Amino acid sequence: MSHAERFEDHLFTELQFDERRLGSLRRLYRQMDRECLGAGFSFHEAPGLHANMTWHYASSPRTLEAFRQCLTRSRLGESLTIVHGDSQLLAACFVVVQGDTPTLDFHMDYGEPEIPPGVTGTMLTPLLAFDESFGHLDCREGLEEFEYRYHVGDAILFDGKFEHRSQASHSAGPATRILVSWSIATDDIRYRFAIGRIIDSQTK
Ligand SMILES: [Fe+2]
Repeated sequence: MSHAERFEDHLFTELQFDERRLGSLRRLYRQMDRECLGAGFSFHEAPGLHANMTWHYASSPRTLEAFRQCLTRSRLGESLTIVHGDSQLLAACFVVVQGDTPTLDFHMDYGEPEIPPGVTGTMLTPLLAFDESFGHLDCREGLEEFEYRYHVGDAILFDGKFEHRSQASHSAGPATRILVSWSIATDDIRYRFAIGRIIDSQTK
């Protein structure tokens, strides 16, 4: 079964890539971390969620381009054809957990009824290996639940209608779990407005 067929049937697929392609994003992350609230990033804590989980969205052409190049210069670029055959990168971020966080609620990234399955995707991969105290990803397919475990060099690409939640982390001290997240979607004019509204609500 091809990645595109699996994505269509199961609303997710897994991709492998050369983790050395993350080099420029690792440098970018270190630079952002040194600058505290780094230039070229917008910082978010979701309301109601634990402040130990934060999203750092690329907010300048330079930082977004670094995420784009990691995608297009590695096997992860296939994600753009897996999702609707014609997808583009709309946003990208580092998702950072430091300290303990509770299990989050199951959700879909694009739950709105105007957005059908097969037109949006989220792809996640760890920037660096992280220790056992950090959680992974709970997934739900119909009535079945399963765990997806993050590994460096592996990425999960899931549909906007795929139900998932972040597992709890029980970490203390300065250790972090850093995920790279790419938001991709078709440029099809029928869905552009609804998708844009969600991306704006996440990134601005
Ligand atoms: Fe999500």
